[in-house]
Amino acid sequence: MREKWSPNSWRAAPAKHIPNDYPDASAVARVEATLRNYPPLVFAGEARNLKASLGRVSAGEAFLLQGGDCAESFKEFHPDNIRDTFRALMQMAVVLTFAGGKPVVKVGRIAGQFAKPRSEPTETQDGVTLPSYRGDNINGMDFTPEERIPDPERLIRAYSQSAATLNLIRAFAQGGYADLRSVHRWTLGFVADSPAGERYKKIADKISEALEFMAACGVTPETTPQMKQVDFYTSHEALLLGYEEAMTRVDSTTGDWYDTSAHFLWIGDRTRQLDGAHVEFMRGVKNPIGMKCGPSLEPDDLLRLIDALNPDNEPGRLTLIARFGAEKAAAGLPRLVRAVQKEGRNVVWSCDPMHGNTLKTQSGYKTRPFDRILAEVRTFMEVLPAEGAYPGGVHVEMTGAQVTECLGGASAVTEEDLFDRYHTHCDPRLNGAQALDLAFLVAEGLRNTRIEARRAANG
Ligand code: PEP
Ligand code: CO
Repeated sequence: MREKWSPNSWRAAPAKHIPNDYPDASAVARVEATLRNYPPLVFAGEARNLKASLGRVSAGEAFLLQGGDCAESFKEFHPDNIRDTFRALMQMAVVLTFAGGKPVVKVGRIAGQFAKPRSEPTETQDGVTLPSYRGDNINGMDFTPEERIPDPERLIRAYSQSAATLNLIRAFAQGGYADLRSVHRWTLGFVADSPAGERYKKIADKISEALEFMAACGVTPETTPQMKQVDFYTSHEALLLGYEEAMTRVDSTTGDWYDTSAHFLWIGDRTRQLDGAHVEFMRGVKNPIGMKCGPSLEPDDLLRLIDALNPDNEPGRLTLIARFGAEKAAAGLPRLVRAVQKEGRNVVWSCDPMHGNTLKTQSGYKTRPFDRILAEVRTFMEVLPAEGAYPGGVHVEMTGAQVTECLGGASAVTEEDLFDRYHTHCDPRLNGAQALDLAFLVAEGLRNTRIEARRAANG
């Protein structure tokens, strides 16, 4: 570990998954210099508020809901898509708050989630081999030699799309759309007809009734603004460190460095090497951060990474996002949780039930069986309390739209259906109905955890 941190100290460390094949390195430097002068996308004070909320999650008093696209794309950039993801997350949050009984911290994988680490540097189709697609802020998805050349101008376009996306999200969150009196309006047509949609409607009815009662008592969104607006935060994987460095600024009120590209940034499972560039960069920014924890992570290494990333043991600073896969979670997760508990480290434990459960169908589609996703969440909700820790959150790839990318769920997406609406630019996402179903499962788990905690407290 280097002693002195600066926004560019990562450049001296080995960096995985950052493209080094831009045809013109000076063009990259020029774009980064341009970005350095662009306005921050988020404020340090907002990142601090999120950190405080995550501190409450680490104390077991709230729950973290993080979700959105695997990869945002230029092609799917449309207000309807942003709105659908926003309202699917709002619906999930309502279920978690109402049925799970916890305040929900809402974080989108949105407004900056473009760059992807890839398992293979190249892709072969019909005997032709080209560089892999790496996210719209690096190269293009079409399988042509031109599209696959990394182009630094894409960073500017990704910044602009992030800014416009965030602008709309801020309007949704603060401008009336998130008013609790709209709980019924958040239901998307196709979700309403699913069993989870029916269950949601019952909750929404109860909330509407409660709101009428409160209004009669004089408590309205006009008197209590929390009822008509929400705190909604943005996040993405901090993969392209040149971009993150350019967006990193000194906060004038504290003198600390914040990465202003998003409120929350995380380190991926493939870039969490203790001496690597990504850990070096992330240890120096004061945002709340996350780290993916997969089956290859050993407890000792995890503790060393926690030392590097959260040396002051600050609650809310570090979220550990477990992504083992349904089969491996029961064997792999308890040893990590035990080590963290034993050493008394304050972390938020969140479950990403997506990335360990990906498979390829015979027809070549990357997909995820919904029952394996649910199985991993169930294991997480059991393992954490069994180790004396709190299952603090979920991290999902989802969209509000009616895509057919993950198999199963109440509407029983089949292998043949994958042909229908497979729109993702990278990994398969839950559709709106599957996402809501998952929220109900998590809410039940939370409720059980609470009942057991109460029983334990009463002896
Ligand atoms: C992702 O979150 O899209 C991702 C690549 O995850 P992981 O680092 O856990 O593989
Ligand atoms: Co993904």
